Amino acid sequence: MPQATLLDPQSLTAKPKLLIVDDDENIRTQMKWALAREYTVVLAEDRQSALDAVRKEHPAVVTLDLGLPPSPGSIEEGMHALAVMLAQDPLIKVIVITGQTERHNALQAIGQGAYDFLCKPVAVEDLQGILRRAFYVAQLERENRALQQTTTELFQGMMGSSSQMQEVFAAIRRVATTEVPVLIIGESGTGKELAARAIHRLSDRKDGPFVAINCGAIPETLLESELFGHEKGAFTNAHMQRKGRIEGAQGGTLFLDEIGEMPLTLQIKLLRFLQERVIERVGGREEIPIDTRVLAATNIDLKKAMSEGRFREDLYYRLGVVVLTIPPLRDRGGDITLLANLFLQRYAAENKKKAVKLSQAALHALESHSWPGNIRELENRIKRAVIMTDGNQIAPVHLELTEPADPYVGKRLKEAREVLERDLVQRALARTKGNLTQAAAELGVSRPTLYELMEKLGIAKG
Ligand SMILES: Nc1ncnc2c1ncn2[C@@H]1O[C@H](COP(=O)(O)OP(=O)(O)OP(=O)(O)O)[C@@H](O)[C@H]1O
Ligand SMILES: [Mg+2]
Repeated sequence: MPQATLLDPQSLTAKPKLLIVDDDENIRTQMKWALAREYTVVLAEDRQSALDAVRKEHPAVVTLDLGLPPSPGSIEEGMHALAVMLAQDPLIKVIVITGQTERHNALQAIGQGAYDFLCKPVAVEDLQGILRRAFYVAQLERENRALQQTTTELFQGMMGSSSQMQEVFAAIRRVATTEVPVLIIGESGTGKELAARAIHRLSDRKDGPFVAINCGAIPETLLESELFGHEKGAFTNAHMQRKGRIEGAQGGTLFLDEIGEMPLTLQIKLLRFLQERVIERVGGREEIPIDTRVLAATNIDLKKAMSEGRFREDLYYRLGVVVLTIPPLRDRGGDITLLANLFLQRYAAENKKKAVKLSQAALHALESHSWPGNIRELENRIKRAVIMTDGNQIAPVHLELTEPADPYVGKRLKEAREVLERDLVQRALARTKGNLTQAAAELGVSRPTLYELMEKLGIAKG
């Protein structure tokens, strides 16, 4: 479907397109006459011609008379048209028009996704007001979607609308165009590799190779030659010269995954490469200059590893010129639901179960789970649930999650309010890492009020 984007010059100059659906020719002509100055007006007189017009002309806004032939006395045809229009273009704004005595029909249409309604006879000023608002909202939504699509693409499908993830995206953009090494830290399954790929994709090296090597998955004896390559005869079985992965990243980005697993002997060699930007193949004498950007990731606590002598401090400071921390899923607020629905869409389509939805209880269960395996765990649970469910609803049991106990059961209003307040305050503090000023701002209260609340609820300060 050709869609207007931010960069489409047509969308800047052309009048916005409005479809008017009414079976009464006089009304159609009057409306067109009144609105043609502001809009490109397309007309339709029944359901079929209306749907054809939506498909061909892509109007952003539609006015739809609910009583259409062959049964202008009922709203069946109109409601049917509404449903198909919304299925074809979920962002389309449909303003339904009904008789004076049929407000309940209008409300039903709004329940089905109509944007607004007007009662006959329609006053032109009312219509113009509603239309302006509808076109404005439609344009905002379309721009937003276009922006989101490019962002998602640039960020390698990494999604997130939480402030935590917005900060990560901003940091990725900031570091991408520099050459400094970045150390990406985060629990398992948080998206460290995606972040590394996004940095590469947004950098000037994007046309060069992205070489990922998992330092934890390769046996120590092989890792050196894997990284640095070897000359013919360097060791038994070295029948041919072989270039290493570092050389393979020439002109691009080298991603050292699970860097915390790298054996100490190789840490020294890696450090030398980072300092001198040259390598020697195993068994070779020639120094080969390498031009590559180095990114590394780990899910272990490198500070602890350093204190235990398992990781070199000098290497840590070389790799971590910039440290990018990817927050765990449980700290990302609304992102759990956002991502759950994203994966649901993906796997429901794959399994031809497009109608499957998450039940309220499932949404609650997802929100209260602690997600030790983060996004990968969420993706796996949803994938499994789509397969396991027979009906159209995913329940907690399909996700292999228990239904969370209702925290308000058996509580008086005052106690229940405290439970809720404690929960909200604790979440805000967790999100802001205990920053009281920020937490107060998020909660929309003053700092002293937050202090008082914490005192009352028995929440420790830092
Ligand atoms: N924000 C996100 N939006 C959509 N998908 C995501 C997001 N973050 C991660 N994923 C998906 O979750 C999975 C795990 O991501 P990734 O491999 O990047 O994590 P990781 O931190 O490297 O994990 P590990 O520590 O286990 O290596 C991948 O399938 C990835 O596509
Ligand atoms: Mg990984």
